[in-house]
Amino acid sequence: MTLRLPGLVAVHTHMRAPGQTHKEDWSTGTAAALAGGFTTVLAMPNTSPPLTDARLLDDTLAAAGRGARCDYGQYAAATDDNAGTVAALAPRTVGLKMYLNATFGDLRLADRGTWVRHLESWPFDRPVAVHAEGATLAAVLPMAASLQRSIHVCHLSREDEIVLVRDARQRGEAVTCEVTPHHLFLDEADASQLGGLGEVRPRLASPADRDALWRNLDVIDCFATDHAPHTVGEKSSEPAPPGFPGLETALPLLLGAVDDGRLTVEDIVTRFHDNPRRIFGLPAQDAEVEVDPDAIWTFDGSAQETRAGWSPFHGRRMRGRVSRVTLRGREVFRDGEVLAVPGSGRDVRARET
Ligand code: NCD
Ligand code: ZN
Repeated sequence: MTLRLPGLVAVHTHMRAPGQTHKEDWSTGTAAALAGGFTTVLAMPNTSPPLTDARLLDDTLAAAGRGARCDYGQYAAATDDNAGTVAALAPRTVGLKMYLNATFGDLRLADRGTWVRHLESWPFDRPVAVHAEGATLAAVLPMAASLQRSIHVCHLSREDEIVLVRDARQRGEAVTCEVTPHHLFLDEADASQLGGLGEVRPRLASPADRDALWRNLDVIDCFATDHAPHTVGEKSSEPAPPGFPGLETALPLLLGAVDDGRLTVEDIVTRFHDNPRRIFGLPAQDAEVEVDPDAIWTFDGSAQETRAGWSPFHGRRMRGRVSRVTLRGREVFRDGEVLAVPGSGRDVRARET
């Protein structure tokens, strides 16, 4: 049997260009996307240097244009001193990313006055995505609500957070959110077993938190890989940088949950296609993913398209596998082989520039 899905959207990825292309670049990152059933990637701005101004955006979009094998969009980064200028990048980006908690990179906004300035200045019809955990989430939601602006919460991982989002929505606030497969399928016990490899932000949480995510699937708008590659060498160093590669495991993991009766295929399409397109205002795309839902196979973290070369899901039995992907009528992936060439991807915002 073959299952046909629309080309999936990875709303939260790290392509690592510029500056850290030994971890990933547009060519390898988008090859990983296609192998995982994604035909669009939205790239986070915590590059080196971080994407904070027009010149860096020009350079990054040029590199993406040369390297990407699937369609792509780029986020801009909020900093303490660019609230007056970064909004000019809105038409060419997919959203503003505000880091309100510490993670990989140096973009955390400590000053709450800065949060408000960015929430006020970024165009209200364009997404603002926040990394806000726990008390930080509780602090930023009312700010967005009092400005009557929408906000997208990245990688929710805990019960208190999903309750905050659920309650905000019940009050009529325009809040959307995403959850990663690793927070749905792993917990703190896996983190201690994995050691440095288990470092990720937000941290893997308790089994109760993980179960609360599953119980509140109706609140979750998007699944998001948070594909955040680091090399095995880096993950073995002290302190290990946080982040997991995720593009090549997300769909098989979720298809396994369909087989377990915990999810429907429709649940996956809604959260990996329909809602991402709506929330980020993405243009229609002619793309299809063929999946063999009954293929049983063992995931090998060292045999991926990503440069990371490892996975927290290494050795896991998977049920469901991507067999073929087409984009604009062309075969871009088939039976384990990426066929799309670098430079064949398109900028999702190109029509507006
Ligand atoms: C991400 C990275 O490595 O860029 N790391 C992570 O643990 N998720 C940053 C982020 O998304 O917070
Ligand atoms: Zn991330």
